[in-house]
Amino acid sequence: MKDIQTIISQMTLEEKAALCIGASAWTSTPIERLGVPEMIVSDGPHGVRRVPDVHAIGMESLPATCFPTASCTASTWDVDLIRQMGQALGEECIALNVDVLLGPGVNMKRSPLGGRNFEYFSEDPYLAGEMAANFIQGVQSKGVGTSIKHYAVNNQEFQRFTISAEVDERALREIYLPAFEKAVKQAQPWTVMCSYNKVNGTFASQHQYLLTEILKKEWGFEGLVVSDWGAVRDRVAALRAGLDWEMPGPQARRAQAIVQAVQSGELDESVLDEAVRRILRIVFKAKATPKGGTFDAEAHHQLARKIAAEGMVLLKNNGILPLSGQKRIAVIGRAAQKAHFQGGGSSHINPTRVSVPWAELQARAEGAELTYAEGYPADDAFRQDLIEEAVKAARSADVALLFIALPTYKESEGYDRKDLDLTQQQVALIQAVAQAQPNTVVILNNGAPVVMCEWIDGVAAVLEAWLMGQAGAEALADILFGQINPSGKLAETFPLHLTDTPAYLNWPGETGTVRYGEGLFVGYRYYDAKRIPVLFPFGHGLSYTTFAYSNPRVSASTFKDVEGVTLTVDVTNTGSRAGKEIVQVYVHDRQAGLVRPQKELKGFAKVELQPGETKAVSVHLDFRAFAFYHPKYRQWITEDGEFDLLIAASAADIRHTLTVTLQSTLNLPCILDKESTIREWLADLRGRAVFGPMYAQMEAQARKMFGGSEEPRYGTESGIGMDIMEMFNDMPLVSVLMFQAASLPIHPEDLVNSLLQQVHSMQ
Ligand code: BGC
Repeated sequence: MKDIQTIISQMTLEEKAALCIGASAWTSTPIERLGVPEMIVSDGPHGVRRVPDVHAIGMESLPATCFPTASCTASTWDVDLIRQMGQALGEECIALNVDVLLGPGVNMKRSPLGGRNFEYFSEDPYLAGEMAANFIQGVQSKGVGTSIKHYAVNNQEFQRFTISAEVDERALREIYLPAFEKAVKQAQPWTVMCSYNKVNGTFASQHQYLLTEILKKEWGFEGLVVSDWGAVRDRVAALRAGLDWEMPGPQARRAQAIVQAVQSGELDESVLDEAVRRILRIVFKAKATPKGGTFDAEAHHQLARKIAAEGMVLLKNNGILPLSGQKRIAVIGRAAQKAHFQGGGSSHINPTRVSVPWAELQARAEGAELTYAEGYPADDAFRQDLIEEAVKAARSADVALLFIALPTYKESEGYDRKDLDLTQQQVALIQAVAQAQPNTVVILNNGAPVVMCEWIDGVAAVLEAWLMGQAGAEALADILFGQINPSGKLAETFPLHLTDTPAYLNWPGETGTVRYGEGLFVGYRYYDAKRIPVLFPFGHGLSYTTFAYSNPRVSASTFKDVEGVTLTVDVTNTGSRAGKEIVQVYVHDRQAGLVRPQKELKGFAKVELQPGETKAVSVHLDFRAFAFYHPKYRQWITEDGEFDLLIAASAADIRHTLTVTLQSTLNLPCILDKESTIREWLADLRGRAVFGPMYAQMEAQARKMFGGSEEPRYGTESGIGMDIMEMFNDMPLVSVLMFQAASLPIHPEDLVNSLLQQVHSMQ
């Protein structure tokens, strides 16, 4: 690697400024005289979208494998598989001469309406973080970079360039940042892409707290921060905040602004040098991997097929699946003939080839007669004739396979969905077909939940096939005919109604602001807390076999937070087919100092079992599995106490609960101050030691002043008819003392100051 410091010392101010901005839509600025090469980036995330001429815009990209989108990959819950996908993407980048792949996307699915939800993994930060870290490690193991995106709090498309996401510190730390944090700490993505939106009033591209304080300093991010395409407003402010590389370029005027800011002393040149250092480091790292050659398109197609097969989720099955022995099969729906396998926008891939459900069904149908009916048109028109034709086909068959694809115009980058509905025609079609044919199987192609209450009860089975990638048709045919036993589980909740969803009352925002009013309560955390029934819970997915969980155990029933605890459970395949089960571990804090969700996913494992086979599945739970972010301490903390470990097959299917006791090793600083309430003084260990005896006296005094004598705390008719201490406890200590000032030897403010001195000297 070149000596970066030497190069920086030889660069002119103009060269430094130019390097901090791209040279085109997809390339960095080369500096030939110093041997600084050009770096090429391409979208991402589930395939390589490499345009033939990286210096031009708007051209169709070169053929590459279109893997299933993130909704599907996350539903595999298979970190090894997603790592393999990353490796394959890395190989394609090498063959297509791409240095950095713009992915993965790890934003939380705050609302199922989010237009890009299909590109994102989950509503749960733990699952998304695991997926992201393994994806990144896979790609980067090939010497190709990634760009984890969009940092941060970019959970909707509505006004995505301008909206300010108003989120509190705990939700930021516990919901919106952990997937990034995990990926950065575990996998060190070469680049992080900032988002378009503002976070609490400041553009993400100019967010010092997010870009520098948290990402670079707290998490130790070593790579470069790149802007989302067009996200920079004020280049100098962005540089100062930690945004290293602006894309796309060139932007002569902005480069000039950087030069002028340094010359005028407005911007310290060392800030610019740091951005230059980070960019050069990644450019040279990228160029250390020779590019060219070909990739194994067939092997990657097979991998895409495998991922699709593992990610599809069997939502409902009354026993009709897998198909066996049906002589006449009605195949209904346009998506059977024209595979619907990816979403719209910057992730759009030009696939190397596309498998078609109809052909795959025919190949497996073995003597059965297949008929086809279109079912619904390409547009939104209502076509009764197509419904009638489909009903006819369904009626004269033994089973109807209904392929329902959510139209692309309903889910894409750049805008959100308006509802969770299928088209009117699709709903009417499902209802009519289901009425004519009790053995109706619905196969869905969509990247995010749809509501089903108008028709789910009438159909025999539902297979969520997602935006399944170019080989998805093979996977779904394998599942329908039983060559593959489905094993995917939902990485997001399917709600019954849009009005039930967590962000419903705060979506999509107005007058430039969207308030994250639900706080921590996103996804199943919300449905748990509100006890709202859902259509299919987070973590749900059926199999053609059944699994029993037994003999749950932990490595220690009492443990230190820094050591964590390991939980083990035996899982047995109790059916007659080989299958895979995803064991989920949720943690419930029995008593917390701050509000916490009822349960949170903190570990999982996918295990393959032959019929009758039993395997012990272990999951380690570390410090963070028990910790929460305390906005006053400004750090992750643990508290002594009992936690329930829920061993589950889904968020709504808890098989065993074990209770363990955590011992916190933290020695937290005292956060009591002049405004602290009596309750806060008593809750603090040191506060209680110092103030406890005085509290007893205060209580007696208050009783004398406000309450009768017979009832210790409550006022009697001679008092004021209330629990006076309950009221006092939530007042600042100093304010309560003011009422008793006359009986105190010193002024209440001096007294509180002296108590504070005592507690602070105890640290
Ligand atoms: C998208 C990014 C994408 C970039 C480059 C932006 O509009 O938000 O996800 O990587 O364009 O295509």
